[in-house]
Amino acid sequence: MTASVTLNDGTTIPQLGFGTFQVPPEETAATVGEALAAGYRHIDTAQGYQNEQGVGQALAASGIPRDEIYVTSKLTNSMHERDDALRSFDETMDKLALDRLDLFLIHWPLPTKYDGDFVSTWKVMLELLESGRVTSVGVSNFQPDHLRQIIDATGVAPVVNQIEAHPFFRNDVARAASHEHAIAVEAWGPLAKGEAVKDATIQEIASSLGRQPSQVTLRWHIQRGDIVFPKSMHRERMEENLQIFDFELSDEQMARIDALDQGEAGRQGPNPDTFDRV
Ligand SMILES: NC(=O)c1ccc[n+]([C@@H]2O[C@H](COP(=O)([O-])OP(=O)(O)OC[C@H]3O[C@@H](n4cnc5c(N)ncnc54)[C@H](OP(=O)(O)O)[C@@H]3O)[C@@H](O)[C@H]2O)c1
Repeated sequence: MTASVTLNDGTTIPQLGFGTFQVPPEETAATVGEALAAGYRHIDTAQGYQNEQGVGQALAASGIPRDEIYVTSKLTNSMHERDDALRSFDETMDKLALDRLDLFLIHWPLPTKYDGDFVSTWKVMLELLESGRVTSVGVSNFQPDHLRQIIDATGVAPVVNQIEAHPFFRNDVARAASHEHAIAVEAWGPLAKGEAVKDATIQEIASSLGRQPSQVTLRWHIQRGDIVFPKSMHRERMEENLQIFDFELSDEQMARIDALDQGEAGRQGPNPDTFDRV
């Protein structure tokens, strides 16, 4: 039902998953349970979302074999120092009730915090990798220069860079820099927080194909080769967002969506060069 992407460490990740940002902690077990029942087998959470415990409860309750589900979490901004990072990783594993995590990411580079030292944090991620408790490690919101610094210092490239990307902000500069290092791109906010479904061009393409605007938007990401995990609190939308592997966009339709890019003006989230909330 869903395609997978091979990462630079030889592992594979489902190209489509379920996002959990702003899924309230008390509703997470039920919501992620619905997503698993709908067919999702890749869940994206983070320490900062405060809902890892609910994700863990849903995974346990689902009865789905561990090796059939891909789970990602992220190191939160206040935990970049070695001891904090190691301790918070232990807490993540307790909350998720897992022996092994599939993917752990540095959530934000925070170049204006910790004396600009995200290289040391990347080295802690490599230590965690070495421990065998996480299968793959990556980064999120890393700009081209941030990627270069951690790779120059360690010789090890992240498997993914999870960055904001959607039709209004293609973020092709950070995407190209990731690809240069064989780093797969995960596009966060793939529906532009729901705004993409209201766009006239996307709606027109959707009606010409007899599909939903959300499906057209997600299909555009898939054909660009990116990994996506739309979030929804609604079962019918969860199902709709899964049905994107039984149709294709033409080159012309892809180009029309490409043309919606507004560059920096289309960015919805913080700029990683200046974001400093710890
Ligand atoms: N690394 C980072 O810094 C970072 C930052 C942000 C997000 N993320 C990750 O990326 C995931 C996805 O991003 P996101 O949650 O910010 O935004 P998103 O997936 O682009 O959009 C979610 C919004 O779209 C609505 N929606 C979902 N499916 C829809 C459909 N079929 N039709 C109409 N509306 C629909 C949802 O509403 P309902 O819930 O009401 O259905 C919600 O308001 C997150 O959940 C998180 O896992 C990572």
